Amino acid sequence: MADKKAQLKIDGLDETLELPIYSGSIGPDVVDVRSLTAKGLFTYDPGFVSTASCDSKITYIDGGKGVLLHRGYPIEQLAEKSDFLETSFLLLHGELPSKEEKEKFEKTIGGHTMVNEQIHTFFNGFRRDAHPMAVMCGVVGALSAFYHDSLDIRDARHREIAAHRLIAKMPTLAAMVYKYNIGQPFMYPKNDLSYSENFLHMMFNTPCEEKPISPVLANAMDKVFLLHADHEQNASTSTVRMAGSTGANPFACIAAGIAALWGPAHGGANEAVLNMLDEIGDESNIDKFLAKAKDKEDPFRLMGFGHRVYKNYDPRATVMKATCDEVLAELGLEDDPQLKMAMKLEKIALEDEYFVKRGLYPNVDFYSGIILKAIGIPTELFTVIFATGRTPGWIAHWNEMISGDYRIARPRQLYTGHAKRDYPG
Ligand code: CMC
Repeated sequence: MADKKAQLKIDGLDETLELPIYSGSIGPDVVDVRSLTAKGLFTYDPGFVSTASCDSKITYIDGGKGVLLHRGYPIEQLAEKSDFLETSFLLLHGELPSKEEKEKFEKTIGGHTMVNEQIHTFFNGFRRDAHPMAVMCGVVGALSAFYHDSLDIRDARHREIAAHRLIAKMPTLAAMVYKYNIGQPFMYPKNDLSYSENFLHMMFNTPCEEKPISPVLANAMDKVFLLHADHEQNASTSTVRMAGSTGANPFACIAAGIAALWGPAHGGANEAVLNMLDEIGDESNIDKFLAKAKDKEDPFRLMGFGHRVYKNYDPRATVMKATCDEVLAELGLEDDPQLKMAMKLEKIALEDEYFVKRGLYPNVDFYSGIILKAIGIPTELFTVIFATGRTPGWIAHWNEMISGDYRIARPRQLYTGHAKRDYPG
């Protein structure tokens, strides 16, 4: 399997170590360092900047060129020609579905959209003003206490049922989190609607009034879900894999992913972008905030800018910007002052030496927040939307790991604490 080798000379070791190098189908080669352990050595890579934790066939990113492929298909083509559920099928199964497979998949997901009625009462334990991500971590984790009929993770059919349940129930739970927060009754899903129409129905309709769902907004919602569907070994996906590597329950693994996604450096950035735009307030303040972002003594960062992998324009941001224009035109908000300010901020940052030198470009979250706000989704719910979109990716990675060879994830450390010492007295 290894067609190349690396030679490693280490001070104090007589022999030269030979490390295999593997090539993927595309992308950088990887050096296999596993034999170092037997020599009493570990590699040191905080933040896993240079470490491939697994091999995977699901998603490929070329951060330098701004390329994102799911199972080989460019994200721009999927955003134009596919939809969220079809892309979910692609992520899970490796190939696009046939017409019949697509219809069957949509029907299957539709058949799982309701949650166990007892979950309704489960919500009552939360404060109504709790952060939606806090409630989401709790209720998705709680699914593990409700679905006991398909818990054998070594059984491919059981894993498939868990995947269907998760993809189907996430929008239902997301809408329930919102309804609970504003004190309205939960809306049951309607399975004659598409995935995204159904989500908007559960969010914005009430038992007293059911308004038709705008196709433009449903289409934008679908794009937001699709553009978040997967992003290879990011922090939340790696968390799902890590939790899954212990053999944990799939619903609990996804809840772990949701917890990891919550932070502002990851999925929480979409909420943070809107908060930042509110804080900047007016175009005249942009320079002041850019100076803060560049000041190493100031913790302020330009949210929605920069990415661990992309050192070029995030391809998802390009599609998101076009969708943003469509949504604002549909709602007659083309002159939205916040959007204008966001565009000015983007232009100034893209020309600024600090951002250019560090390859800091707008990421997916820069525009998704503006779209979601225009649709009427409250800022605090933005990361819940990201979690709903990312669910097929999380579950595809979990499934890929469980169905292949894997070991429990157990990183090592460089210990810098006290050497052994005796308890005083
Ligand atoms: N504003 C100002 N400076 C920045 C920013 C930013 N948004 N992002 C990175 N930098 C600087 C950073 O200070 C460092 O400068 P220097 O080399 O002088 O010390 C350099 O750029 C590299 O940054 P880093 O923190 O080493 O990069 P990282 O790969 O560890 O972090 C990141 C990536 C996404 C956490 C970071 O860019 C960031 O905090 N961005 C803002 C939050 C954000 O928008 N996150 C959403 C990411 S996309 C959605 C997702 O996939 O989760």
